[in-house]
Amino acid sequence: MTRPSTCYPRALIALHWLTAVAVLLAFVTGGNPAEARGALEQLAGQAHVASGMLVFALVALRLPLRALLGAPAAEPGPRWQHLAAKAAHVGLYGLMLIVPLAGWSALAGETTAFSLLGFALPLPDAHATWVRLLGETHETLGNAFIWLAGLHAIAAIGHHVLLRDATLLRMLPLKMLQR
Ligand code: HEM
Ligand code: HEM
Repeated sequence: MTRPSTCYPRALIALHWLTAVAVLLAFVTGGNPAEARGALEQLAGQAHVASGMLVFALVALRLPLRALLGAPAAEPGPRWQHLAAKAAHVGLYGLMLIVPLAGWSALAGETTAFSLLGFALPLPDAHATWVRLLGETHETLGNAFIWLAGLHAIAAIGHHVLLRDATLLRMLPLKMLQR
């Protein structure tokens, strides 16, 4: 197994895995938060909106940090793999931004007031064309997000298990591997 010569900066590693957990939580709690009936559905609705908004906050922090700190050069490999990885990363960054905004728009279409952890969540104008159009894409883009993240994870595991390179290790928070 190749050891990574350079790893992602620790702040970017932390943001990557926090985001992955938040996206997974948002996905498994998917449903209509504005129509939650019973304590369990209420809890899922709160978790959905909170984790989804956390994804947005994390990417808003991550993008400037990524520009500032940079990323290690890709492991050696064919050009098509580098291009596919780059396209998946750009797609994932785009979905981290757009899916929560689409969810926020979808929520505005479902209710006029939503309380998140006891605080009134400001909502956009549900009649604005962009809010309606964006809201309609939320479920589809949310599902696409999970599919793309799943393919991305399979590729990362494939690098580790089949190609036996350091692609996965450089994104892991394991200090001893970072020497
Ligand atoms: C990465 C973040 C998010 C993901 C992956 C995600 C995913 C999903 C998925 C897959 C559904 C459809 C569930 C079903 O009916 O089977 C859904 C529904 C919904 N989500 Fe999200 N969501 C995210 C963030 C948010 C946020 C931040 C909000 C609100 C501020 C939100 C509000 C809603 C609403 C209102 C629905 C029901 C209406 C609809 O399906 O369009 N979501 N979400
Ligand atoms: C929703 C979940 C996930 C999202 C949104 C996501 C997003 C991303 C993004 C945007 C990058 C590019 C980082 C950059 O260069 O700025 C990245 C890199 C990476 N991710 Fe994920 N990821 C997710 C889950 C996973 C999982 C589950 C794994 C492993 C099983 C994984 C392994 C990696 C690895 C190894 C890299 C570095 C790739 C390289 O250097 O070419 N990711 N991820």
